[in-house]
Order: sequence, then C-alpha cells, then structure tokens
Amino acid sequence: MTRRALITGITGQDGAYLAEFLLGRGYEVHGMVRRASTATFERINHLRDRLTLHQADLLDQLSIVNLIREVRPHEVYNLAAQSFVPTSWLQPLLTGEFTALGVTRMLEAVRLVDRDIRFYQASSSEMFGKVREEPQHESTPFWPRSPYGVAKVYGHWITVNYRESYEMFACSGILFNHESPLRGKEFVTRKVTDGVARIKLGLQQKLKLGNLDAMRDWGFAGDYVKAMWTMLQQEAPDDYVVATGQKHSVRQLVELAFGHAGLDWRQHVETDPALFRPAEVNTLRGDAAKARKVLGWRPEVDFAGLVRMMVDADLERVRREAG
Ligand code: NAP
Ligand code: GDD
Repeated sequence: MTRRALITGITGQDGAYLAEFLLGRGYEVHGMVRRASTATFERINHLRDRLTLHQADLLDQLSIVNLIREVRPHEVYNLAAQSFVPTSWLQPLLTGEFTALGVTRMLEAVRLVDRDIRFYQASSSEMFGKVREEPQHESTPFWPRSPYGVAKVYGHWITVNYRESYEMFACSGILFNHESPLRGKEFVTRKVTDGVARIKLGLQQKLKLGNLDAMRDWGFAGDYVKAMWTMLQQEAPDDYVVATGQKHSVRQLVELAFGHAGLDWRQHVETDPALFRPAEVNTLRGDAAKARKVLGWRPEVDFAGLVRMMVDADLERVRREAG
C-alpha cells in the first residue's frame, strides 16, 4: 500500500528536502500551503507535478481538521513555523500563535481524525538557549533565550503531552542548525554565502553581520530530513537530538566561505550593532548518540563540505542571474 505523508511548511527549506526524500521512497506526498498573493513555491517547483498541495493555515483550526480528513495521511510532519529568531522579538504574539499554538492545532486535528496517524514535530536546539551543559542531549534542561525558543519549548512539551495523554505516535526531533543552498537568505550561513558570491562577482563590496563569536553546531538539511523520517518508522515514539557534535563560530564560517572564493573576509565584513540580539544563544553543540544508536542516523556532510557546497551554489546562481 502506498504510504501518504502530509508536510506542513513544505515551501520551506526542510519541507523541500523532506518532500524529495519521501517521493524517492515511493510516498504520496501532500503539502499544506498558506494563501499568499505571490506564490512561494520556488524551492519545490521541480517537484510540483509529483506533489499535491492544499491550502490551510496554522492559525485556522478548521482548515487543518478538514485537510487531515481529506488526505488521511499515515504520517504528518509539522515543519511550518515562524522560524526566524530575530522576528520573534518583533512579533512575539504571532510567533507564539504559529510556532507554539500551531502545534496544538495540528495535534488536535490528528487526535480528532485518527489517533493512529504518526506525528513529527520540528523542535529546535534553540530550546537549550543559555546552555546548562555541553554537549546538549535529550535530557539537558531548556533555557530558551527568545520568544521563538520559548514557543518551541511549548511545541515540544505539547507533543510529549499528547503522546502521554492519548498514546499518540508523536515524536519531537530536537534538531540543531541545518543549512543548505535552499536556506533562507536571512539566516547567517546563507547570508554569508550569498554575500561572498555577490562580492566575488563585483555586485557588492561589504557584508554587515552581527555577533561573530556565536557558535553553532551546523549540519546539512539533506541529512537531517532522513532523521525525521526514521523517527516515524520506529516501533515506539520518542524524542531525539539530531546534530553533528561539532561547533564552529560565525567568524570561522566567514573565514571559510570567503577563503573558498579566494577572498580576504577582513576587507569586506563589518559588524553592525543593530544585528546583535536582545538575548543571545552564545553556543550550541549537540550529542546525537541516541539518534546514532536507535535510528542508525549519521550526518554525511561536514561543516567545511557544507560551506563549500553553499558558496559554490550561490556563485553559480548569482553568475546566472547576472547573465
Ligand atoms: P523555513 O524555511 O522558515 O520554512 C517555514 C515554513 O513554514 C514555510 O513553508 C512557511 O510557509 C511555513 N509557514 C509559516 N507560517 C505558516 C502558517 N501560518 N501556516 C502555514 N504554513 C506556515 O524553516 P525551515 O528551516 O525549513 O525549518 C522547518 C522547521 O524546523 C521550522 O519549524 C523550524 O522552526 C524548525 N527548525 C529548523 C532548524 C534549522 O536549522 N533549519 C532547526 C531546528 C528546528 P511560507 O512559504 O508561506 O512562508
Ligand atoms: N541571522 C543572522 N544574521 N545571524 C547572525 C548574523 C547576521 O547578520 N551575524 C551573526 N549572527 C549570529 C546570530 O546572532 C546567531 O547567534 C547565529 O549567527 C545563528 O543565527 P541564525 O542563522 O539566524 O540561526 P539561529 O541559530 O538563530 O536559528 C536557526 O537555528 C535554530 C536551531 O538552533 C533557525 O533555523 C531556527 O529556526 C532554528 O530553530
């Protein structure tokens, strides 16, 4: 029997990689998209004829219930969220509606329609925030540092709660930062690789960044979506940290990306105090031992390979766009 999956956030970075991965495994893939005056399908255009897209919104409970009734998926991947941390200080209530309560709306819809549907929640290493220990694993206490992080803590615990209250197959994947050529340009890796490409091709001189000392455990999105799927194939639902176990600073990212294009970053990068955050997550490094042991999951792309992949993709794209 063909398995059906429903992905919320299918137009985002992870949604595009997950959709491609599931299609490759023979799934019938459905995506939830919200109405916009201009389509946001850029990342999934190459898959469009193999996907079924449905309009619904995380804010609208009835639209979600109707969608799950119509599709009757075997698996739901809840990736949709307001996912950019700085925006969460500008729009804390909206972030709470999408990123926190949106999870309950999804879980309620699954509970009402069919409790046997398997559910994946996109939780985040941002929940560890002001880290209590290093590396961070599944039982490291949370100390979120942004309205986004606080909303994700809610999303995590409501997922655990529905599992415990209703015996639903609900998993929370605590994913550390993962990047790719499809990453939004506001996130630091893509901002840097896009900036490198534009500077290399003479379209821009300077790149303004915030805190160069922040450290992250950066992996490749294509590797991380495999962990999401594997979580839903287990006998029992559980929560997993997904990370590379290596951390690097924004400064190291910048050095590597500019260096790969033959540029000296010191001549181009300026720091802008406006880009510093009201409260920062200074460092993150995950311990994915449980995912390794139970899921057999391992990242295939390392940090240097990821940065090279992103710089090369942006160089090619900017060259093409510049004619
Ligand atoms: P992304 O590129 O920002 O994509 C977010 C998606 O959510 C988009 O498809 C967006 O649709 C959709 N969305 C937002 N609000 C919605 C609403 N009200 N109704 C329906 N759809 C809505 O994020 P990503 O990097 O792929 O991340 C996927 C998920 O993993 C997010 O929940 C994120 O918080 C979480 N996460 C990401 C990382 C990471 O490093 N990437 C790490 C940990 C957790 P539009 O196209 O219409 O905007
Ligand atoms: N965006 C951005 N822009 N970040 C900068 C900049 C800049 O110009 N300069 C320095 N940084 C620093 C930020 O202060 C932060 O410490 C780090 O770079 C990473 O920022 P982002 O790439 O915006 O990612 P994030 O870690 O805040 O959040 C991402 O990862 C989370 C998982 O830990 C997002 O994808 C979240 O949705 C995800 O949950």
